[in-house]
Amino acid sequence: MNNEFVKKKYKKKIKEFIKHNRLYFDKNTPQVSDKYFDELKKEILDLEKKFDFLNDKNSPSKIIGFEPSKNFKKSKHRVKMLSLANVFKKEEVENFEKKIKNFLDLDKSSKIEYSVEPKIDGISASLTYKNGTFVSGLSRGDGEEGELITENLKTIKDIPKKIISNNFPSDIDIRGEVFISNKDFEKIKDNFANPRNAASGSLRQKDPNQTKKIPLQFIAYTYGYQKNFNFEKQSQYLKALNEWGFKTSKFNKVINGVNNLMKNYEQMENIRFELEYDVDGLVYKVNDFKLQSRLGYVSNSPRWASAHKFSAESSFSKILNIEIQVGRTGALTPVAKINPVNIGGVIVSNATLHNEDEISRKDIRVGDTVKIERAGDVIPHVLSVDLSKRNKLSKKYIFPNKCPSCKSTVSKEYNNQTKKFDAIRRCTSEGFECEKIAIEKIKHFISKDSLNIDGLGKKVVEKFWDLKLIRFPHEIFLLDFNKIEKLDGWGKLSSSNLKYAINKSKNISLEKLIYALGIRHIGQENAKLISQNIKSLENLSKIRSNYNFNSFLNIDGIGETQVQSLKKFFSNKDNIKVINELKKFIKIEKEEKQISGRLQNQTFLITGKLNGISRAEVKSIIEKNSGKILSSVNNKLKYLVVGEKPTTKKINLAKSLKINIINQKELELLLN
Ligand code: IVH
Repeated sequence: MNNEFVKKKYKKKIKEFIKHNRLYFDKNTPQVSDKYFDELKKEILDLEKKFDFLNDKNSPSKIIGFEPSKNFKKSKHRVKMLSLANVFKKEEVENFEKKIKNFLDLDKSSKIEYSVEPKIDGISASLTYKNGTFVSGLSRGDGEEGELITENLKTIKDIPKKIISNNFPSDIDIRGEVFISNKDFEKIKDNFANPRNAASGSLRQKDPNQTKKIPLQFIAYTYGYQKNFNFEKQSQYLKALNEWGFKTSKFNKVINGVNNLMKNYEQMENIRFELEYDVDGLVYKVNDFKLQSRLGYVSNSPRWASAHKFSAESSFSKILNIEIQVGRTGALTPVAKINPVNIGGVIVSNATLHNEDEISRKDIRVGDTVKIERAGDVIPHVLSVDLSKRNKLSKKYIFPNKCPSCKSTVSKEYNNQTKKFDAIRRCTSEGFECEKIAIEKIKHFISKDSLNIDGLGKKVVEKFWDLKLIRFPHEIFLLDFNKIEKLDGWGKLSSSNLKYAINKSKNISLEKLIYALGIRHIGQENAKLISQNIKSLENLSKIRSNYNFNSFLNIDGIGETQVQSLKKFFSNKDNIKVINELKKFIKIEKEEKQISGRLQNQTFLITGKLNGISRAEVKSIIEKNSGKILSSVNNKLKYLVVGEKPTTKKINLAKSLKINIINQKELELLLN
């Protein structure tokens, strides 16, 4: 056979495969038998084995599972589904505990009790039980809103449909992980990259009968909303889950202190590959629920829990090229394009090189054979170079001094706090002048934590950009859906779904909109603080370079870095234009009601040390009750709280401004 003939034959088979894959998995209307479909796949794989120039991206050897159906109804979680912060090293575990002790104002020598659970690498789900009956189930989604996959969940044997027990809460969301065992994965592994993908794909099939074909399991480990819930500790709750008929991990333990956590970690790491399912680390949760609730949350993860990830898996490969990616904030990130390798079940073909210093420190060069490490969901990176395999003619890599996208100069920023230059080089262009930055800004604008538009992913943004359909974030509201409908890979249904999703995204909270703008150093927490301060989109759209940006310094949490960044952002005409255009489409949605507003409009500042409670916890309690903490004494301040060894200057200033000066007891009375 000549090569052209082989290619033609291969292409034809791939085309057929794509068609049947979709009919089978997404539309659930297979036109051929399973046997025919399996043979087709085998023929493609055999061809690829024989002719290594055949490697279509849609080949069954490449596609990661199948596209799950987009046909599920969405529903809000009654209590958000959060994620966990990761730690890797012992010092980070120590730091996790230190922060807990500081927040709770506990002695260094005190012991914290943890519930330690394996972190199963599957898909989380939330199951609602009312009066003991499983009534509905949601996927995690973006944490706030998930997909209603009740019928699919019902096919899982481990999920009890009815629970009769005296101590089962009358209304509760039971949460846990849906996964597939490694043994079961073996049988279907030709279709999926890894067990996690298999579980995810199968759980989100349109037809529950498809889900049923794949043996999914469920392990319960936490809860969301609850009523009549009477447990004091996570370990008690886990035990109760078991009594109610849920599966829990047999490796759950109660452990005291960091040293014991580390001992257990080492033991578990040694046996992780003997477990019946994929585990990518351990979860540490402060066992006592009262302490958990005092500790609360930062952004999207709890202060009271952390994931201790297992160390990575690694493999060797060759660097084919070094590419420079330009990020949303202009950061130039070198990425090694490598010969694809399988690392722990995932095909890796890119590895981050972090920054210029990392390349020169490790003297990484194009053509080098390198050791690549991959840990869980973290981007793979180059660990070391195998110098014995280096080509004598290879040359040192020279980092570009111009932005590869817009050719602007690149610079390293000086950090006033650390008195050092940043390790990262950044493109110095502002706004939307640099094409790569502009694309990344749009991707950020539509991402999950921002406008969260279904059907408008990163790849689609790139495609729309290439087709010149969008240049600025607001232009997603000006898309011509008649045009989109006719694009390759699109149709009436997908284009009208996108239209619907885009329309829906016009209702958004001010804090999300501010976050979506992608202002440097303004993450979700800061966006929230700024939105509380600015209050309306109208006010936001009036900000110009002459605005009193220093007024933001009164917000606890906003510092000089943020202020400088805001100044820069609002000095750019494109940014101003985008906000003004957005005003025509966006309708600001009020944030959900604050649960308790007893300290509404009350402002506090603490000077000196309080007894038995940390500053951070006081701040958190005040904010939970809608109060605010200011960072300086000024006429907006209502209460100056004076502890031990206060700053006299603050007290004197407060006196002269006739501000209420109170002590810890009086504060406690106010807080009830
Ligand atoms: S607790 C705030 N417990 O890890 C508490 N999560 O990054 C969050 N996971 O989305 C959940 N095993 O999919 C918890 N024993 C366990 C877990 C676990 C796996 C997953 C879960 C979650 C992610 C958090």
